[in-house]
Amino acid sequence: MSSPPLPNTGSPTSSSEVKCACRVVGLTKEYVLKSETVRALRGVSFDVPQGDYVAIMGPSGSGKSTLLNLLGCLDRPTHGNFFLGDDDVAKMSDDDLSEIRATRLGMVFQSYNLIQQLTVVENIEVPLTYQRFGSSGSRRQRCRELAALVGLGDRLGHRPMQLSGGQQQRVAIARSLVNDPYFILADEATGNLDSVTTEEILQLFERLNDQGRTIIMVTHEDDVAQHAKRVIRLRDGLVQSDEINTDRIICKGKKPSELAEMVSDGE
Ligand SMILES: Nc1ncnc2c1ncn2[C@@H]1O[C@H](COP(=O)(O)OP(=O)(O)OP(=O)(O)O)[C@@H](O)[C@H]1O
Ligand SMILES: [Mg+2]
Repeated sequence: MSSPPLPNTGSPTSSSEVKCACRVVGLTKEYVLKSETVRALRGVSFDVPQGDYVAIMGPSGSGKSTLLNLLGCLDRPTHGNFFLGDDDVAKMSDDDLSEIRATRLGMVFQSYNLIQQLTVVENIEVPLTYQRFGSSGSRRQRCRELAALVGLGDRLGHRPMQLSGGQQQRVAIARSLVNDPYFILADEATGNLDSVTTEEILQLFERLNDQGRTIIMVTHEDDVAQHAKRVIRLRDGLVQSDEINTDRIICKGKKPSELAEMVSDGE
């Protein structure tokens, strides 16, 4: 598998044909325990076109984390296919999965997962350690640009402890972009944030999506899912519904004070 060159800041597809960021076909996952086999996913299929913004929801035990682990290449399905570009991840070796994780996936977690000893720009650069492309100067420049993109251009030398929760999540989002990922996979990314900061992070996701970035987020929160273009609901390991979000909340260009009003209005 070949690694890509250093990416551009935004990457909308230029072709009129919409390509898939990922495609899952008949995905099943069984956990074999001593006394029983748990069928956590029982045949899940969907496409995520490049540029989509999908929220995955569902009650406890419906299979969200299991699906997230598969989409994040942390695990392999029992049956079915998972295509990233033209590659079927389901058939890859552990080494290939590690390489994909390191070079083409952008993960954003509830707990940010930043390295406390590193500065903002160094944290953003971490995934590039696995890349062999470009000079260290061009990699560092790329990280500075991404820090500016998420509004942290004036915080390059700060360490995570010196940042607010929302700022730390911005660093994590910039880090998730540094490898030009197939998609950003966000796992309850706003779960630790207050409602105004949540709106700011969702505004950032919206802007990145407007620039062509594909976003898949797992969330328990209806308010958060309402920002996505599409909502996939799981139930008992199956897709219960997969619908365009007709009531989508758009916070385009709103200032923090206006976001606060949206939150208090329950918009
Ligand atoms: N490692 C495992 N071994 C055995 N069973 C598992 C394992 N992981 C998950 N399961 C089972 O698979 C099913 C789906 O679990 P999963 O964690 O994907 O649900 P979830 O939708 O993420 O739930 P929650 O909202 O509570 O996090 C559950 O019945 C769970 O008990
Ligand atoms: Mg879970």
